[in-house]
Amino acid sequence: MSIVVTGATGHLGRLVVEGLLDAGVPASDVVAVGRRVERLADLAGRGVRTARVDYADRASLDAALEGAETLMLVSGSEVGRRVEQHAAAIDAAATAGVARVVYTSAPAADDTPLVLAPEHKATEELLRASGLAVTVLRNGWYTENYLPALEQARATGEIVASVGDGRVASAPRADFAGAAVAVLTTPGHEGRTYELAGDHAWTHDELAAAVSEVVGRPVAYRAVTPEEHLEVLRAAGLDEGTAQFVVALDGDTRRGLLAGGSSDLRDLLGRPTTPLLDALRAAVAAG
Ligand SMILES: NC(=O)c1ccc[n+]([C@@H]2O[C@H](COP(=O)([O-])OP(=O)(O)OC[C@H]3O[C@@H](n4cnc5c(N)ncnc54)[C@H](OP(=O)(O)O)[C@@H]3O)[C@@H](O)[C@H]2O)c1
Repeated sequence: MSIVVTGATGHLGRLVVEGLLDAGVPASDVVAVGRRVERLADLAGRGVRTARVDYADRASLDAALEGAETLMLVSGSEVGRRVEQHAAAIDAAATAGVARVVYTSAPAADDTPLVLAPEHKATEELLRASGLAVTVLRNGWYTENYLPALEQARATGEIVASVGDGRVASAPRADFAGAAVAVLTTPGHEGRTYELAGDHAWTHDELAAAVSEVVGRPVAYRAVTPEEHLEVLRAAGLDEGTAQFVVALDGDTRRGLLAGGSSDLRDLLGRPTTPLLDALRAAVAAG
């Protein structure tokens, strides 16, 4: 009956593991895995099985998946290496006789110019070809991604971005984790692809207003062109690759690629998604 959760040493996977325990899944049925296993010690103390898994180490995948019923494959964080890493995890799951895989993907992954989508699209294709029962959770944007902007605004009173009037239907990681827990603990999700996004798609003027509430000072959104944005980021010391990536993501936002539009997240949660202001407050309180 066990559920192997990858990325449990990271933010989302940890929330999924905790959500499974809160939902009443016996700790002995949960296997929390990642590379930095020292981060799993408290979970081990609660009876969760833990294991060191590196996607690059096939034996570690085989050992963790032995006897498992479900693989919760939280997408990896090493952009550019993820297709081979996910392929190893999927192949190990098939070899181990795992009954189903739940995978965290990206919005409209099979049909979007979103800069981050290609590795997710390729992973979804591998999953479809694997013959395994699969549920795809196309996670939208985390509200926590705006914590650096919040800290910038705390210091300067500005949020500088090249998103234009683009809207973002973000939700906190806890909401996406809640949807994963719902899929893992209730029947009928095999073969389904869910487009998960927050209920409200906000503008950066709304972000500035929410951030202003949290940091306790007036905050304005300063819209800049992509070229100006690149200069601002370079001047702030970002390396060229990272600066280009941030500007590309803002371009995706400007084009509405993160604007959501599906009720799948609220439907899986059985409640409205967490509003922007509440999610920012919680993220700041959590440190
Ligand atoms: N929707 C969004 O806004 C958004 C934003 C950022 C990322 N993401 C995606 O969502 C995933 C989860 O988000 P998060 O915030 O929880 O990220 P995170 O805190 O950075 O966690 C990433 C997890 O991936 C694991 N991992 C990375 N490379 C690995 C490898 N080679 N072998 C085994 N495990 C590996 C890490 O394990 P160790 O730490 O133990 O190495 C960690 O547990 C990310 O990995 C990324 O794919 C989505």
